[in-house]
Amino acid sequence: MALYDTDRGLLSEALHSQVNIHAEYGGVVPELASRDHIRKTLPLVREVRKQAGIEGDQIQGVAYTAGPGLIGALLVGASIGRSLAMGWNVPAIGVHHMEGHLLAPMLESSEPMFPFVALLVSGGHTQLFSVEGIGRYILLGESLDDAAGEAFDKVGKMLGLPYPGGPEVARLAVSGKRHAYRFPRPMTNRAGLDFSFSGLKTFVRNTIAEEEKVRGELDSRVRADIAYAFEDAVVTTLAIKCRRALDQTGLNRLVIAGGVSANRRLRDVLGATMEKRGGTLICARPELCTDNGAMIAYAGAQRLLAGQSDGLSIQARPRWDLASLPAIIP
Ligand code: KG4
Ligand code: ZN
Repeated sequence: MALYDTDRGLLSEALHSQVNIHAEYGGVVPELASRDHIRKTLPLVREVRKQAGIEGDQIQGVAYTAGPGLIGALLVGASIGRSLAMGWNVPAIGVHHMEGHLLAPMLESSEPMFPFVALLVSGGHTQLFSVEGIGRYILLGESLDDAAGEAFDKVGKMLGLPYPGGPEVARLAVSGKRHAYRFPRPMTNRAGLDFSFSGLKTFVRNTIAEEEKVRGELDSRVRADIAYAFEDAVVTTLAIKCRRALDQTGLNRLVIAGGVSANRRLRDVLGATMEKRGGTLICARPELCTDNGAMIAYAGAQRLLAGQSDGLSIQARPRWDLASLPAIIP
């Protein structure tokens, strides 16, 4: 939850993590997520208002995530967001979750930075876009199977790490050795900007099985080497495709967004890549890369400011194509 002012910037934000609820099951349990949203949403609204010293009648619009995602969780946010807007008599807008991620780096700076290439890497998406402005998104390539974050989470599970696996794999990889294993860089040998991570995941699973046959239960040193090689394969693959997308579009600014863009190694590798090309890597601080309310408030505020809003019906879209969003004409 967050309060954003188009003149003053981010006024307040609060985050309730559901990691503890889902950790026991090793992944998100949709019904538990929705029920927890019901319990936590209004207290968080109160908290951000209190933090910023803002009364209900000072709020000029409400933005909520309308999709894509789990329908139950989306419906809770959409119902509460739409109802608060009605009570306060202000417009409401349903925001595309990935547009929130994509625009999050703009919370860090007020400089206009269009056009750019965007790499969106989260638990559900791995996509490359050419971005000319808000709502002007041209899809360049995407994952044909697992998303990068999903692959991190599944490999985390294989290595016996707690949920969510992504940050845990990254932490373990820090102590891994460089050339102990070499995993494939999927779909980098042929032209194009699509991704596939499912084969890499299977490769990791087979490697773990083979090593266990030889060594018995794997010690933390071997597990760290495997985590390193996996992270290296994902980061290298993403970097190759980013360079290709920049070459193809002739752009020299790269935005990375979504949970996996919090990954230290990805940020370092792409930072060095962009420096070498005389270009710029733009990313938000790690807390704004993973799911947060500030990015939805920001994206919604830009669209409300441009005069867009949704009607009184409560709408949520489990599937929603980012490229179908209306443009904001500056
Ligand atoms: O954007 P996000 O917070 O939620 C979705 O919209 O999916 O992304 C979550 C994903 C998870 O798969 C998580 O494991 C991954 O991002 N993630 C990371 C890191 N932090 C979060 N993956 C690799 N390294 C990280 N440091
Ligand atoms: Zn997300």
